[in-house]
Amino acid sequence: MRRPEKLIDDPVRIGQIGLGGGIAPSHLNEMEKNPNFLLAAGCDTRLGDAAVTKSAQRIRDAGGAIYDTYQQVLADPRVEAVVIAAPHFLHREISVAAFAAGKHVLCEKPLATHPEDCKIMLEAQRQSGRVGAVQMQHVGRKSMLQMRERLQAGAIGDIREVFTATLWWRENSYYGRVGWAGRKMHNGQWNLDGVMLNQGIHFINETLVLVTPGKLPTVAEVRDVRSALYRFHDAPQLEMEDTAFVTGMLDVPGSPRLHLVATTCATIDRPTVEIIGTKGRALWNGVGHVFADGQPMEEFHDDGGEFDGASLIFNSFAKAVRHGGATMTDFSQIMRTTQFVADAYAAANWNIKPAPWSEVGSLGGIIAATQRQRTLPAGLQEKPDWA
Ligand SMILES: NC(=O)c1ccc[n+]([C@@H]2O[C@H](COP(=O)([O-])OP(=O)(O)OC[C@H]3O[C@@H](n4cnc5c(N)ncnc54)[C@H](O)[C@@H]3O)[C@@H](O)[C@H]2O)c1
Repeated sequence: MRRPEKLIDDPVRIGQIGLGGGIAPSHLNEMEKNPNFLLAAGCDTRLGDAAVTKSAQRIRDAGGAIYDTYQQVLADPRVEAVVIAAPHFLHREISVAAFAAGKHVLCEKPLATHPEDCKIMLEAQRQSGRVGAVQMQHVGRKSMLQMRERLQAGAIGDIREVFTATLWWRENSYYGRVGWAGRKMHNGQWNLDGVMLNQGIHFINETLVLVTPGKLPTVAEVRDVRSALYRFHDAPQLEMEDTAFVTGMLDVPGSPRLHLVATTCATIDRPTVEIIGTKGRALWNGVGHVFADGQPMEEFHDDGGEFDGASLIFNSFAKAVRHGGATMTDFSQIMRTTQFVADAYAAANWNIKPAPWSEVGSLGGIIAATQRQRTLPAGLQEKPDWA
């Protein structure tokens, strides 16, 4: 195998599972530049596909082998770790097989779509003694990490409330781009590809990361979950929610109340997290801001890399593989985010209400009103007909 010059002495020999999707090239970009990784292999079930062919060539250029099944990657003795960039419904199956083959796993979000699957994955990891981490790049963003440090140091006093809005725009055609998009089950597995587990999960998880007291990677459980789930898009394949309103409390003493909304029906693409404390306020909107009682505003910026945060997640994975210890996004912690989402489905009795596309124009106002009035849409003083 050829050795690219960038490498440290003992890089993690990694195989990428899934080469053709939206996320696959970002991982290759990261590992091509990251001295902690040697691309040892890759696989995809659609080797003839144009995007897959392009990625496969990049891995061959780095000296890696290309296969058409993940089982072949796992059987390759040069591969000691895998990054899973295949769809959600395969995360459990591939992770469990990888641990059984003695490989370390860096899995794309969501860790899994069902808490029972997360438990099975965690058990497989524990039995193997290997590292299991989730690729949640926002956790590794400098703007987030620095803001978290200030919050944890008490910059805004006790945290009372958190308002997280994951506002994205997706066309109907987005839900027809691949067979698993928007589906509840796929190939007999839990898939739950709604806005909570697909787009929203980053900032649902990030909210827990920001306000859970103590050291990373600890993430608190969430209790007292309430939710309202809607479907505005009339895309034929979409079975899950495209809009979710969720509230809950961290299972820690003096927890703030969390108010989260996620939608693919917004006219803008903009996630925000606003944190209200007894002595001030913090806002993350791509840049972190802390406004504390009488102090000049502090700002926290990212490095401005191509995929902010991913490098730190990959580096923490490599460090744990070589030297042990926790990663920034251990399976054991990130599974709480999947549990939170499962509790949100249960709180809504799995009822995803159809809502008319003609009302999407007023959604921004409804979201703002739910946050102002600390309620779900049905509790608004002037509630919309669809709530
Ligand atoms: N972190 C992020 O910001 C981010 C962004 C996009 C997607 N994702 C996650 O990445 C995962 C993949 O999403 P996507 O949109 O790229 O999906 P996709 O369906 O577009 O692509 C997945 C790729 O995996 C391949 N694949 C499918 N089954 C396979 C198997 N059994 N073995 C090997 N390869 C297989 C497909 O052929 C395809 O090339 C999802 O879980 C998604 O949530 C994360």
